[in-house]
Amino acid sequence: MKRSAHPRLAAFLSVALALAGCDSKSPDPAAERPAGEAASPETGADSAAPSGGKTYTIGMSQCNLGEPWRVQMNADVQRAAEQHPELEVIFKDAQNDSLRQRAHVEEFVQAGVDAIIISPKEAQPLTEPVAKAHEQGIPVIVLDRAVLGEKFACFIGADNVKIGRAAGTWIRSKLGGSGKVVELKGLMTSTPGQDRHRGFRDGIQGADGIEIIFEADMKWLEPEARKEMESALARHAKIDLVYAHNDPAAHGAYLAAKAAGREKEIIFVGIDALPQEGVMYVQRGIIDASFEYPTGGAEAVDIALEILAGKPVPKKITLGSRYFTKENVSSGGEPISDLLGEEKEST
Ligand code: FRU
Repeated sequence: MKRSAHPRLAAFLSVALALAGCDSKSPDPAAERPAGEAASPETGADSAAPSGGKTYTIGMSQCNLGEPWRVQMNADVQRAAEQHPELEVIFKDAQNDSLRQRAHVEEFVQAGVDAIIISPKEAQPLTEPVAKAHEQGIPVIVLDRAVLGEKFACFIGADNVKIGRAAGTWIRSKLGGSGKVVELKGLMTSTPGQDRHRGFRDGIQGADGIEIIFEADMKWLEPEARKEMESALARHAKIDLVYAHNDPAAHGAYLAAKAAGREKEIIFVGIDALPQEGVMYVQRGIIDASFEYPTGGAEAVDIALEILAGKPVPKKITLGSRYFTKENVSSGGEPISDLLGEEKEST
């Protein structure tokens, strides 16, 4: 018996497929493969009926589990998979090492998993193993950080350029068009770092009074961000705002400023907005704004099931985002499209 997508994706998929002009003649070999031809020898369309035994195995390679956002992504995958007794997910943690993550993908291929979900550390080193798995007919769903090219079944993530632009727009208005800004960038060999930077610069473009007085790559890590912020504080007597590419970095910057007795004169902005992290920081007045970056974990499981059922899926799924400030946090934040003057986001 073939399974169909979770309802949260069903409506989205029909619209996305229509818009993308996508049909079941997709050139994507992995996306096309019917369930009965799944990579594992034990799998087959008939045995997909819930018989108590697992029918599909998904390998999930997480780039690290050192940050709450990634722990949340795995929990979202796990929770979604638990709704489907025929699914088993094998989790691997690459511990922030691209070589180790390459090996994960190769091991999953060797083991003959039915699908792979990967949240890659860096685009370049993970492109080849992902492409190879795809070429061997194993559907690979790439989550959050991208790989290069098109050799995978589906990419799921929020639009980081848009999030960066929304942050830039908010910052520009908060600063009244002028101020001294520190930018703490995410790992610049990963796509969200590049995109959040580009979007932000776009968002503040034309506000000639906004000056980026210090920028550094904090590699997504709170201790790195704290260290970089200590340098910024030592070099600059006046800092009006910190734009950090994630909430751990915004928090690290806050701690550095607090240690220097300067946290009250600085506005802190981060990205991720996990309820127990960024949103809580905003509620407590530790940071001033956080922009949501959904994990896409549940959507990845839904898409894997669609592919394993032989259904066409879009090549790219873009998730919506909200932003949280002191003013809107108690009412659940607002869609970033409100800042960008666009139509409402779907989430
Ligand atoms: C976690 C993280 C998040 C960030 C995402 C970008 O590793 O740094 O904080 O939003 O990765 O890929």
